[in-house]
Parts: sequence; C-alpha cells; structure tokens
Amino acid sequence: MTAPARSPSTAKQNSALITEVEEAAGAFAQRNPNSGRLFAKAQASMPGGNTRSALYFDPFPLYVEESFGARIKDVDGHVYLDALGEFTAGLYGHSDQRIRDAIVVTAGKGVSNGAPGSAEINLADAVCARFPAIEMVRFCNSGTEANLYALTLARAATKRTKLIAFSGAYHGGVLVFGGGGERVNAPYDWTLCRYNGIDEATATIAKVGSELAAVIVEPMMSNGGCIPATREFLEALRQSCDKVGALLIFDEVVTSRMGPGGSHALHGITPDLITLGKYLGAGFSFGAFGGKASIMDLMNPQRPDALPHAGTFNNNVFTMSAGFVGLSEVFTPERAQELYEAGEALRVRLSKLGHECSRIVQFTGCGSAMNIHFVDGDITCPEDLVAEPKELFNLFHFDLMEAGVYAARRGQINLSLAMNDDDLTLLEQAVAQFLERRAPIIRAIGGER
Ligand SMILES: Cc1ncc(COP(=O)(O)O)c(C=O)c1O
Repeated sequence: MTAPARSPSTAKQNSALITEVEEAAGAFAQRNPNSGRLFAKAQASMPGGNTRSALYFDPFPLYVEESFGARIKDVDGHVYLDALGEFTAGLYGHSDQRIRDAIVVTAGKGVSNGAPGSAEINLADAVCARFPAIEMVRFCNSGTEANLYALTLARAATKRTKLIAFSGAYHGGVLVFGGGGERVNAPYDWTLCRYNGIDEATATIAKVGSELAAVIVEPMMSNGGCIPATREFLEALRQSCDKVGALLIFDEVVTSRMGPGGSHALHGITPDLITLGKYLGAGFSFGAFGGKASIMDLMNPQRPDALPHAGTFNNNVFTMSAGFVGLSEVFTPERAQELYEAGEALRVRLSKLGHECSRIVQFTGCGSAMNIHFVDGDITCPEDLVAEPKELFNLFHFDLMEAGVYAARRGQINLSLAMNDDDLTLLEQAVAQFLERRAPIIRAIGGER
C-alpha cells in the first residue's frame, strides 16, 4: 500500500496553481525590464546567462545594482529588504562601517603579498577562541573546498577511504546529495543514510566499520530545507563513529552562526573536524576547516610526511582582515546570542501565521535561518518533503518580492545583523500578505475547505 500523500493536491488544483504562478511571473517580468535585458545579454557569454545555479530562477533572476545596510536595490530601481542574506554569508549586512574600514585600510597597505602576515594569525586565533571544537584551523576559499579538505584529512588520518553522508545534504558544489546534483560530485566512495534516522545511521556506520574514514553531517540541513538535526541523532553519530574509529565532521558552513560557538557548542558535541565558510569572510571568498590539533597537524609542513595544502588566496589579506574585524567586533558572542534568539522568536511567529492559514504551512529552521514548507506532519528529513508542490515556492518568492522582500526561491529566509525590528515586522507582513492572498489555493492543496 502506498502512503497517503501529505499534500493531497489534485490535477485541478495543480493547474490552478500553475496559472497563479504564471500570472505572478508575468507581473515580475513587467516590473523588471532592466533585469530582463541584462539576462538576455548574459546569455551570450554564460550558459543560461548564469555562473551560479542557486541564483537562477524563472523567468529571469533579479539583477542587483547596489546594496546598503539590510537592503538591496535592483537595476530597475526597486529596493528590497534582503532576506536571502547571501544564503547566510550576508550576516553582516552590506555596509557595516567597521568592515568597510578594515577593507579600506587593507587596500591602503597593498595586496597580493605572497607571504604570511599578521591578519591571518588574528583570524585563526579568533576562530579557535570562538568555536570550542576547533583547536587548530586552516583557511581556504570556499565551503566546498573546506569540506573537500576535511574529507581528505579524514581519509589520510584514518588511512581509510569510505565516507557516509545524508540524503538531501549539500556540502558544496561537488558534494551534492540530492536533486540529481550527484552527477557533478567528487568521486569518493559514499554511502548515504536518512537524515535524523538514528537506527539506519548507527547500523550503517557499524557495517562499514573498519573501512569508514568519516561521517559528514550538517547540524541543520540548509539547502535541504532548513531541517535541524536532533541532538540525539548527532550524539548517536558521535558514539557510533567512536566505536569504529571513524571521524565525525560537522559541516558548520551555515550553522556556525547559531549562537556564540556554532551548532556543536549549542549541542555540547565535539566533532573531530568542523568546516566553516560564508559570513566569516565578511563578504570575501572564504572557507576554513579545523578541529583536533592531532589531526590538523597532518598538514604541518615541518613534518616529513606532511599533507600539502595549497591555495594562492588561502590567506587573502582582504578576507583575513575583514573576517577578523567581523568576528571580533561585529558578530560578538553577545550579538550571536541575540541574533539566534531573534531568529527563534521570528520562526515561532511565522509558524503561527502559517498554522492559521493551513495545516500544510510550516516554518522549519534554527536560529537566524528558516524555510517555509507546504506539507503536513513532522519534517525531519528531505524525504518528508517530496510531496511539496514546488510551484508554491515560486509563488511565495514572487509575492515576497512584490511586497519588497527578497528571499531565496526555495523559501529560505536568513536574518542579518543589519536588520532591525521594523525590518522583521516588514518580513512578517510580507509573509502574512502572501498567506492571505494565496489561502484558497494553499488550503485546496492541503485538502482543506
Ligand atoms: C552546508 C553547506 N556546506 C557547504 C557549502 C558550500 O560553500 P561554498 O558555496 O562557499 O562553496 C554550502 C553552501 O551553500 C552549505 O550550505
């Protein structure tokens, strides 16, 4: 017997939904002729006019001319509250004065030095002081790279090759575990398990056993729909890895913003390695991996058997200096805690609005990152989301933009330090307007009258 669909939409409702989306897309295209023109131009030199898949949406993406504070301004002159927050990399907003000053001072001192400098020591010290499980750290240029290095380190440290990840996870451009993205993946030996599935994960770890190098997990699946891991699940991974001598890697590229010490501190769990990225570069390309000193030391160039770790821009002076000011002066532990709490409170308010509209409207997430969903029942893993009508996300996206809020097409909302209470109110109002306007189609899809 097949399980009942959790969003029991019919063909009639689907076609009504498609009509609403087409109308919204048409209105978007009309409002944004200059974006449309730039998109047409971009197609001559980039496939699909695009160099970053996540920023593509139909009929064409919004082209942004400038940004300030918590706002972006598009090439047609519309100003939006930026609730995409550069997929969490935009934590500091767009123009924090302390970060701007650091950039200007750095530019004044000259770039491309081809040598270490004090800025990288400052940032490394700040990272190690801030994240309890990071005893030593190394920098690279993206979260993708950070994860590739962490996996490489784990394979070298354990002298094993097999890896476990979770279905629907996203660990970078060549570490995609859902939606068909696997075709671009780095050729490692993967076994996939269900996220938050304690029994399956512990059994698989035991089975792969002495061949298992590492388990990599996001403490909250970000790309997968802002689905948080339960503490029990993460603890079970920790214990199971210990039993077979495999390393546990937390991908905290997104979740390191959750409270003062990131998700591992929040849960009181110590992974062997942690990867970082996004906001820690304060607007510049950034990645980092760190953890137990005994593992990180495998990259110590004073060792005869040192693993090489190269990268021209690993210590890019802009990233190092702006990143240090961001972490030490802007995203202080107190601000981190406040932002986490503001996000938790906002998600509660949005969930209430959602429930008032329909039982299929839910907001998942952790702290300052959250995602709308259109499905009934608990959401613990991406498999719980397969029945979601994807077109509703398009509608949500278009309607939010019409209300002056720029979010991710997949329904993700990320807060930034530049937002104030009025901005959060605007965000709530935009969501409320969407729910009110689209209630008939949402309720019809949910099988409600
Ligand atoms: C959890 C997670 N890991 C890794 C990455 C990859 O980071 P980057 O885009 O800097 O390569 C991302 C990016 O969205 C991410 O969300």
